[in-house]
Amino acid sequence: KPIFVLNGPNLNMLGLREPAIYGTDTLEDVRKRAEVRAEALGLSIDFRQSNSEGELVTWIQEARDDAAAIILNAGAYSHTSIAILDALQAAELPVIEVHLSNLFRREPFRQHSYVTLAAKGLICGLGAKGYELALEALADLLAQARR
Ligand code: DQA
Repeated sequence: KPIFVLNGPNLNMLGLREPAIYGTDTLEDVRKRAEVRAEALGLSIDFRQSNSEGELVTWIQEARDDAAAIILNAGAYSHTSIAILDALQAAELPVIEVHLSNLFRREPFRQHSYVTLAAKGLICGLGAKGYELALEALADLLAQARR
């Protein structure tokens, strides 16, 4: 089964959006880096983005049967969405939370994330590299689970 790499609202604007915070890589660049890394680790990924909270919830529900794990950058919904948290808890899969920016040197309202309550780990502040590191962590976790 693939790892679902799910991206939330405004991440389609990457590269154009506040480059001082988020850098100039586009989401397509992030996807390519993640694809290359996944292939090197012997993993497959299903990389998606949605601006809609409901669509993210539906994808997380789908992951329960169709994915081995979830990497999630829920964007601003991380800070607001109990619905996404509930879906993650129902999915019963390893979840790694990723954010491009370092939430802890930003506004206080970004310093709480509902996603964290369902996440094995959290990577933030390392840009696109965070997705690669999340894949590495999952490669180990999934190999351990097979043992
Ligand atoms: C983000 C951080 C969120 O606070 C913000 O709303 C985003 C992007 C990040 O990747 O740094 O949309 O998730």
